[in-house]
Amino acid sequence: MARSNTETNRITVTTINPAGLDVLDLGCGPGTALHVAATLEQPPATLTGVDHSAEMTRYASVRLRRLARTRPIHLHNAPAEHVPLADETIDLIWAINTVHHWTTPDPGLAEASRLLRSAGHLVIAERYGPPNHRHRPAGTNDAGIEGLIAAAHAAGLTHRGTEIRTTSNDRAALMVFSKATHQ
Ligand SMILES: C[S@@+](CC[C@H](N)C(=O)[O-])C[C@H]1O[C@@H](n2cnc3c(N)ncnc32)[C@H](O)[C@@H]1O
Repeated sequence: MARSNTETNRITVTTINPAGLDVLDLGCGPGTALHVAATLEQPPATLTGVDHSAEMTRYASVRLRRLARTRPIHLHNAPAEHVPLADETIDLIWAINTVHHWTTPDPGLAEASRLLRSAGHLVIAERYGPPNHRHRPAGTNDAGIEGLIAAAHAAGLTHRGTEIRTTSNDRAALMVFSKATHQ
């Protein structure tokens, strides 16, 4: 489980090239994706992580402490539904194995849409399995993906594609959305 989660974090970080971008990790947990991104040869311009768990935010802070001395890395103990950042300040958002924890995805997706700059991207990664897969409900399936696409659309996000990737012992669905640009 932990190894598969780390692989999903790595895959997600490079789904959209984050080099030079302002990046936000919603539900960052212990900071795995932030750490991967911060150590890329061409890292993001800024990295911000939010998690509603004080314990997880603390883990991430410990993991990233050394890197944060020389890189712009910010952590907030805050819910995905109320991120303490200004409108349209982020180019790329990751939500990795977290959306299935949200009571309902709509407020978090609306928040992602608020935070993204025009044409910015949101990548949602979830463990993928058919209905009754042993990991349900800690993940998603085809119906869950369709539901998320509809919810994202309602939040002003356009679905750019979904890819199913195989990790060493699991599968992950990577859903890519972009902020709808004004006509
Ligand atoms: C399975 S962990 C995944 C953590 C990390 N994204 C990763 O892939 O390693 C789910 C994380 O989502 C966080 N979380 C759940 N609901 C949240 C919410 N509404 N707002 C912010 N964080 C949330 C949890 O505290 C937890 O750290």
